[in-house]
Amino acid sequence: MKGLILSGGKGVRLRPITFTNAKQLVPVANKPVLFYGLEAIAEAGIEEVGIVVGETKEEIKEAVGDGSRWGLKVTYIDQPEPLGLAHAVKVSEWYLKDEPFVMYLGDNLIKGGIADLVEEFRSKRPNAQILLAHVEDPGRFGVAELHDDRVVKLTEKPKEPKSDLALVGVYMFDHQIFEAVKSIKPSRRKELEITDAIQYMIDKGLNVQPYVIQGWWKDTGKLEDMLEANRIVLDNLKRRIEGTIDKASRLEGKVVVEKGAVIRKSVIRGPVIIGYNTLIENSFIGPFTSIHDEVEIKNSEIEYSIILKNSSIINIKNRISGSLIGKNVRIYQAPSKPKAYRFMLGDNSEAGIREA
Ligand code: TTP
Repeated sequence: MKGLILSGGKGVRLRPITFTNAKQLVPVANKPVLFYGLEAIAEAGIEEVGIVVGETKEEIKEAVGDGSRWGLKVTYIDQPEPLGLAHAVKVSEWYLKDEPFVMYLGDNLIKGGIADLVEEFRSKRPNAQILLAHVEDPGRFGVAELHDDRVVKLTEKPKEPKSDLALVGVYMFDHQIFEAVKSIKPSRRKELEITDAIQYMIDKGLNVQPYVIQGWWKDTGKLEDMLEANRIVLDNLKRRIEGTIDKASRLEGKVVVEKGAVIRKSVIRGPVIIGYNTLIENSFIGPFTSIHDEVEIKNSEIEYSIILKNSSIINIKNRISGSLIGKNVRIYQAPSKPKAYRFMLGDNSEAGIREA
């Protein structure tokens, strides 16, 4: 069995971060989202993985390499344009050939990995197996209707959902999927939809099995979901302090401080991760915050946020919350008076802030 990770796409919903970065490489608890997927695939005993890439190919290749870090053999598959999930399958046929495969959306996170469902697929050998989760707001997702433990209908973002079972970003297929992706037509948003391809298989009388997961999963394609994923992953951290903490600082709860990081006269309230060579001085870093490497934070307060590499936040009096801040961003005190801050700044941005 092979793996197929989708790591192309446009990432419109995470702009401006995705103007300069692949969204699959945005870190959750200081680790790129994509790496969680690679780990899950390796854990399921799969060794050969194709990664579908688009515009951000070079960046993804640089981060992942040949996959040997995870015991994987990675092959990169070019998708000339992001024309949909089913299109990504279509352009991967040369690599997958007639082997069954698990397809994993590169911006998804699934608690507990995928080993169990891969095992079930291997033993039952349906033509397709789709991962489903009970959700409160099914109208936002692809929704599955089941009958006698088979999937009978899939509807994309239905106005009146027939079930609360949403499609999660992991799918398993045998070679029958190729006829489906070649037969369907582009949808209204001009993409080849994977839901249409699976519906095609159902209509042909093929066996499409559901697998309902109980744990959490997150699609990190939007800011709110990215912050939530970060919160959940941080909550499972184990305390580990390798940097330098002065006596005037306090570290509370689940806190990771990487090597070379320096914390002076500050309070760090976990769950929090502080990256390599980062400096925190005279500041409060609140719960559910990931601060990446080589960041500088002075005289400021930050909670429920993700701060990427080599940025600095200096002398910001109001607390920063619910923010995703790109690489090389500078935020500093400037003469004026905004009362609240909420940032979503791209790489190389610069924000000057005034206070009363
Ligand atoms: P989506 O989040 O559905 O699409 P997107 O990345 O284009 O994002 P947005 O809607 O904000 O513009 O994609 C899910 C995953 O699949 C993600 O990792 C990107 C990847 N993908 C491809 O590799 N090729 C494609 O053609 C599409 C649509 C997505």
